[in-house]
Amino acid sequence: MSRRVLSVVALPVAVSLAAVAEGFQLFCQRGDDPEKKKANEKEEKAATSSQWKSTRNIKPCNLTGWWKNDLGSKMHVFNVDNNGTFSGEYHTAVSSAKSPIQPSPLVGSQHLDKDEQDTFGFTVNWKKFSDSTAVFVGQCFNGADGKEVLHTSWLLREKVDSETDDWKATRIGRNTFTRMS
Ligand SMILES: *[C@@H]1O[C@H](CO)[C@@H](O)[C@H](O)[C@H]1NC(C)=O
Ligand SMILES: *[C@@H]1O[C@H](CO)[C@@H](O)[C@H](O)[C@H]1NC(C)=O
Repeated sequence: MSRRVLSVVALPVAVSLAAVAEGFQLFCQRGDDPEKKKANEKEEKAATSSQWKSTRNIKPCNLTGWWKNDLGSKMHVFNVDNNGTFSGEYHTAVSSAKSPIQPSPLVGSQHLDKDEQDTFGFTVNWKKFSDSTAVFVGQCFNGADGKEVLHTSWLLREKVDSETDDWKATRIGRNTFTRMS
C-alpha cells in the first residue's frame, strides 16, 4: 500500500519540478499562442514518459493468455482488445455444485495504463454446471521475482430457494494468479 502511494505521489512531484525548471524559458518562448503551447506540452509529456520508461523497464499488463491460481484453477483470456474488453474461459478446480465441473465463460474489462499495474474485473457465469455467478476484481503486478502476478478478490452468488435464505447466498474470497508458460 505505502509503496504504491509513494510512487503515485512521487511522479507528479518529479514532473512538476522539471516543469518549474523549464517553465521560465517556455514562458518566454511561447508567448500566448495556444497552438504552440499545446505542442510544447505534448513534447514535455513525451519526454517525461520516455524518461520514466527508460528507468523502469515497463512491461504493460495484458491479461491475454493462460493463468493459474493458488487453488489450481485455470483461466484462459482469449484476447484483450484495444478498449480493454476481453472474454475467456474459467476452468475452476473447486466447486460446491453437484454436477461435474465444466469450463465456464467469462467476460471482463481491464484498464490499459502506461504502467504494469492495471486493475481489471470480470464475471464468470457457471451456467454449464451450476446456477451461481461470480465476479472478480483484481490488479496486475510484477512480483519480487519479476514475474507477473494477479491479486484478485471475488464474490460468488449462489442461488437460494427463497428470499429468506438471501443472507447466506454470497461468498467472498481472494486468489492469486500467475501466468502459465
Ligand atoms: C494483448 O496481447 C494479445 C496477444 O499478444 C494481442 O493480440 C492484443 O492486441 C494485446 N492487447 C492489447 C490491448 O495490447
Ligand atoms: C472501442 O470502443 C469504441 C467506443 O465505444 C467503439 O467504437 C469501438 O468499436 C471499440 N473497439 C473495439 C475494438 O471494440
